[in-house]
Amino acid sequence: MTTPPAPLARKFTLTDLRAARDSGAKVPVLTCYDYTTARLMHEAGVPMLLVGDSAANVILGHETTLPVSLEFMIEITAAVRRGAPQALLMADMPFGSYHSSPARAVTNVCRMVQLSGCDCVKMEAAASQLRTVRKLADAGVAIVAHLGLRPQAVGVMGGYKFQGRTADEAEAIVSLAQKMQNAGAVALLLEAVPPDVSEAVVDAVTIPVIGCGAGPACHGHVVVTHDTVRLTPRPPKFAPQLGDLATPARDAFAEYVRRVKDGSYPAAEHAYPMSDAEREKFLAGHRF
Ligand code: KIV
Repeated sequence: MTTPPAPLARKFTLTDLRAARDSGAKVPVLTCYDYTTARLMHEAGVPMLLVGDSAANVILGHETTLPVSLEFMIEITAAVRRGAPQALLMADMPFGSYHSSPARAVTNVCRMVQLSGCDCVKMEAAASQLRTVRKLADAGVAIVAHLGLRPQAVGVMGGYKFQGRTADEAEAIVSLAQKMQNAGAVALLLEAVPPDVSEAVVDAVTIPVIGCGAGPACHGHVVVTHDTVRLTPRPPKFAPQLGDLATPARDAFAEYVRRVKDGSYPAAEHAYPMSDAEREKFLAGHRF
């Protein structure tokens, strides 16, 4: 049975995310990059949205997430905020915006929070970011630490490969998760790890864990929206197929081409009217 779409009754907050961890209620999270889609997600009652730097791939057409700028991420996060005022809004910090020093990270993260209206900020987190996470937590910023597959580290990872394949790798992820919690992260995002690893992380920390291709134990699950509605050519195997927006969109665009070419558009009903009197005056005074 399908549930009819309905907006949330009130804003979904970090407290609700924490409560979901305690109650076992699973939190659906979708990526979103623009106002119009955010409005639809608001109408569908999606409780939590991620403005991911995957915008670099699905919006801008880059091969990796690396080229996207902080200004672009701030701009699109603010657009999503306007469309989905009730959602818990997580903004991604792009590559290079939080790496050079903790002080620079605080400056850039504060700009993101102030200018976009997001509720929390996600950073791909290596051990070298622990000082930064601590500083941001001290500044009162809700930080989500992204562990497992970290697309911004594609260079050192040697490609987009799932992580935690060996016992040592899995142990390192669990240990880093605990350190991120101790540094003040409010939640974790765990991407592309085997279910045993996410289960161990969930057991090892007390903060909510959002999975992305990380098995069922996580408290919430996020996917790149475009992967779920056939808007990307090669979605990852963990992305559920929820519908097909590509076929109707392509058909609609082709229909427009046909109508303009065959002259059926624009028709009389698409024209702005002029009164008969004004038309006659206009045509009489005009030499064609
Ligand atoms: O940028 C993004 O969309 C993400 C998800 C893949 C978790 O970080």
